[in-house]
Amino acid sequence: MKVEDFEYYLRLPDDSLELKELFKKAYKVKLLSRGGLLYLRGLIEITNICKKNCLYCGIRCDNREVVRYELDDNQVINEAQFALDAGYGSVVIQGGERTDEQFVSKITRLIKAIKVLKRSDGSLPNYSLGITLSLGEQSQQVYKEWFEAGAHRYLLRIEASNKDLYEKIHPSMSEDDKRLHSYERRLQAIKLLKSIGYKTGTGVMIGLPWQKYRDLAEDLCFFKDMEIDMVGMGPYLPHKKTPLGKLNYDSIQFDAKNRGDFINFTDENRLNLALKMVALLRISMPHINIAATTAMQVLSPNGREQAILSGANVAMPNITDLSVKSEYNLYDGKPGLSDDAYSAKSTLLKNIKEYGIEVGWNQKGDF
Ligand code: 5AD
Ligand code: SF4
Repeated sequence: MKVEDFEYYLRLPDDSLELKELFKKAYKVKLLSRGGLLYLRGLIEITNICKKNCLYCGIRCDNREVVRYELDDNQVINEAQFALDAGYGSVVIQGGERTDEQFVSKITRLIKAIKVLKRSDGSLPNYSLGITLSLGEQSQQVYKEWFEAGAHRYLLRIEASNKDLYEKIHPSMSEDDKRLHSYERRLQAIKLLKSIGYKTGTGVMIGLPWQKYRDLAEDLCFFKDMEIDMVGMGPYLPHKKTPLGKLNYDSIQFDAKNRGDFINFTDENRLNLALKMVALLRISMPHINIAATTAMQVLSPNGREQAILSGANVAMPNITDLSVKSEYNLYDGKPGLSDDAYSAKSTLLKNIKEYGIEVGWNQKGDF
């Protein structure tokens, strides 16, 4: 599909028959290329300390109302043990961007410790957990160190593949000051991850202010051009305590050229747009891993299941300690804040069962 085709489908009205056909086709493509199983990765939110200041994110460093935390080694290892015993196959270690030496070596130590975990009850199958990292931009040396320690996937979202849009939602650019953002550096980091050997994932936010259908169509082309292995993308959700969340669309005089396409979108419209993105991506890249992200669940209780039926094949049940879970708030309305790892698991299983979705237990789910 070309960029024009993507845009055509993204613009289809939510109730159109053609759109229903698109979702069906995407699901079929997934069955044929990857099978029907859903792969699970236990999500560990290791720290909400972040040196970056993304204009949309609730844990940006300027948000002084956040109580900052960092899980200790034992907490992380216990959570990984839960994932192994639960049959999740993999964990994702996600956190704010930190490049201090202490943090870097802690991650290396934890990767090594997680790789040698054994099931608590000694049962089979005996395998080591897959480890995905989502810890922002790091130097080549650090990426290498973590890869050699045993991490094999890395998620680094481009957030918006259009440079102008990227620059609108991130604080000013600088090549030298690592706290600030550079689109080129982000792109470079994704390429670096690929060259080191990581299964590399990226993604975007959908429904951003200023974003246009064309931008999203180009995001889909970007994933393909970059030959990305995995994609995690979801709706943009405002967080009240961020500059972007405070943006009052009505009071802003967008000139016609800058006007985003998604102003006055309802939750349903936004979820549908995210589902269209998932379906088009599955058709365009049949074999990659596509996540049904938590953000989809915010817009509808069954958003995650709808994403799976539109082509997603990965879910990331949260296994972070309840004591800190509510402090890892990227956006308002994060679901499951009072669920511990056990109830997150049973809720997920109950929900997917209703849709006849089965889990690829004890599998890493790489292609
Ligand atoms: N809405 C949706 N997604 C967000 N993220 C951060 N803030 C928001 C928000 N307000 C996403 C970014 C980041 C990932 C960890 O969370 O895409 O890469
Ligand atoms: Fe930090 Fe990531 Fe939030 Fe940006 S999106 S402020 S890098 S946690």
